[in-house]
Amino acid sequence: MLKQSFGTDTHGREAHLYTLANANGTQLKVTTLGAAVVSFVFRDKNKIMRDIVLGYDKAESYIEQGGYYFGATVGRYANRISGAKLTIGGVEYALEANSETNNLHSGSNGVSHKIWDVECMNEEQNSITMKIESGDLEQGFPGTMQIKVTFTLTDDDAVRIDYEAVSDKDTVANFTNHSYFNLAGHDGGFVGSQKLKIYADAFTPVTPTGSIPTGELRPVAGTPFDFTQFKEIGKEINDTYDQLTYTKGYDHNFVLKNGGRLELMAEAVCESTGIHLYAYTDRPGVQLYAGNFIAEHAGKGGARYGERHGFCLEAQCFPDAVNNPAFETPLLKAGEVYTAAAVYRLALD
Ligand code: BGC
Repeated sequence: MLKQSFGTDTHGREAHLYTLANANGTQLKVTTLGAAVVSFVFRDKNKIMRDIVLGYDKAESYIEQGGYYFGATVGRYANRISGAKLTIGGVEYALEANSETNNLHSGSNGVSHKIWDVECMNEEQNSITMKIESGDLEQGFPGTMQIKVTFTLTDDDAVRIDYEAVSDKDTVANFTNHSYFNLAGHDGGFVGSQKLKIYADAFTPVTPTGSIPTGELRPVAGTPFDFTQFKEIGKEINDTYDQLTYTKGYDHNFVLKNGGRLELMAEAVCESTGIHLYAYTDRPGVQLYAGNFIAEHAGKGGARYGERHGFCLEAQCFPDAVNNPAFETPLLKAGEVYTAAAVYRLALD
């Protein structure tokens, strides 16, 4: 496993980049800054090596563009928490209101923006485990939490991501990975022609402002949110359906049917490269975010990134589940072990 310097954070602390590879030549790079996936390279149908996730060449750029969460591990509560507060055991905890009046991705200084330690590298399993401690009331969340994430590059060209977290007080936990995929290559531009299938019959509509789920589970049938059969991401993205206008395109949670088992959540395909992504999780939901808010800027190797140049499939508890009794609770009791998994597998079939 190759280890390289990846630059420094604002405190001058060094971030590292680790490269994992398998016998097929598939390569995964992860950095200790935000425990983030930096690149995922796969041989396409034309035998060209394609890097299919957006990212940057150095830690400094990740810090500068932190609001995009390229490839990052997001927690302690991914997605939104309404009113930037939650109540546990009758005690109200205030969080950073960094998205209108709400909390998004746990705030601007969460674990996505910090340098993690490497706990172990397992050459045989082709995996690396990173860990970080998040203190009691850090970002407002109760309990000192020990968090671990393991990235495994499998022989069948998947990155498997396993999360583990334990807190010494009752708290909430909801970790996800925020990779932006572009199956034409990270520099491939608008993802609109790539086809997507999501294993969900319903999604969670949001409020007109603030993007907080209303509690409704709305059937996707007859709406632009119907991805039960492969459909181009761009086909209806500019539709006037109100849920799309609220969020400038897809930025919604879909209701999965896996019953807590690791099962397919989505697939995506790109005709020009032949790359087929199979995505799995054991979480109840997946946020489809179609990169609606990416401003034009420089990415890896001088690539130009812009609006809708990547799509995220963020496996998660439902947004704002902490404040919504209709949703499966993300509560984590003191001493209990939180686990979650997601797999993103590439193939040419
Ligand atoms: C959110 C988007 C947000 C993006 C980057 C996504 O998970 O749903 O609304 O713009 O993350 O922060």
